[in-house]
Amino acid sequence: MESIVRARALSKHFGKNAAESVALRDIDVDVEFGEFVAVMGPSGCGKSTLLNMLGGLDRPTRGEVHLKDQRIDDLSEGRRAVLRRHSIGFVFQAFNLIGNLSVADNIELPALLAGVSTSEARQRRDTLLEQLGIPDKATQMPADLSGGEQQRVSVARALVNRPSLLLADEPTGNLDTKRDPRRPEPAQELQL
Ligand SMILES: Nc1ncnc2c1ncn2[C@@H]1O[C@H](COP(=O)(O)OP(=O)(O)OP(=O)(O)O)[C@@H](O)[C@H]1O
Ligand SMILES: [Mg+2]
Repeated sequence: MESIVRARALSKHFGKNAAESVALRDIDVDVEFGEFVAVMGPSGCGKSTLLNMLGGLDRPTRGEVHLKDQRIDDLSEGRRAVLRRHSIGFVFQAFNLIGNLSVADNIELPALLAGVSTSEARQRRDTLLEQLGIPDKATQMPADLSGGEQQRVSVARALVNRPSLLLADEPTGNLDTKRDPRRPEPAQELQL
C-alpha cells in the first residue's frame, strides 16, 4: 500500500548541552492513504512535537520524514510552506486562529493563498461551516466564540484546501463527547 506519510528514526532534541532535552527518540511512523491513526501518550511525551515534524512545521534533529514519495525534512522553510499549504491540514492544539479576522476570513484565507478563486473559497467555507454545525458564526470574531466553536473553525480551516494529510492535535478536547457511531476507530494506535 502507498504511504501518505512515513518517518524513520525520528528524534527531536531541544536546547543544547546541559540544558538539552529529548522530546522524541527513534520514532517510526507509517500511515497509508485514507488511514486514521491515533497518537497516544501522557502530557509531555512528544505528541505535538511529532505532529509538527510530520507536517513539516519543524525539523527533526535526526531521522527522515517523507510525504507521499517526497522527502520533506530537508526542504527549505519556503518549500515546506508551499507543501503545507497544498497538501497538509493542521488543527493546532491552541487553535491559532487569526484574532483580527472574522471566522469566515480565517477559513477562506488558506484557500485564497493557495490560488483558489474567491467564489470557490466562499463556497467551500459555507459548506464547512454547515457541516461543522456553526453556519451562523461566519461574521463573528474568534474571541467571541466558545472553545469548542473555535476548535470547529480550526477544523474547517484545516480542511478548506482538501489536504491529503490532516494532522490534528487534541482535536476533540473542547468538543461535546457524544460519540458518532459513523466515526471509524483508528486503524493504528501509535503509543509514545
Ligand atoms: N520549543 C521547545 N523548546 C524546548 N522544549 C520543548 C519545546 N517544545 C516542546 N518541548 C518539550 O518537549 C517535550 C514534548 O512536548 P510536546 O508538546 O510534544 O508534548 P505533548 O505530548 O504534545 O504534551 P501535551 O499532551 O501536554 O500536549 C516536553 O517535555 C516539552 O517541554
Ligand atoms: Mg501537545
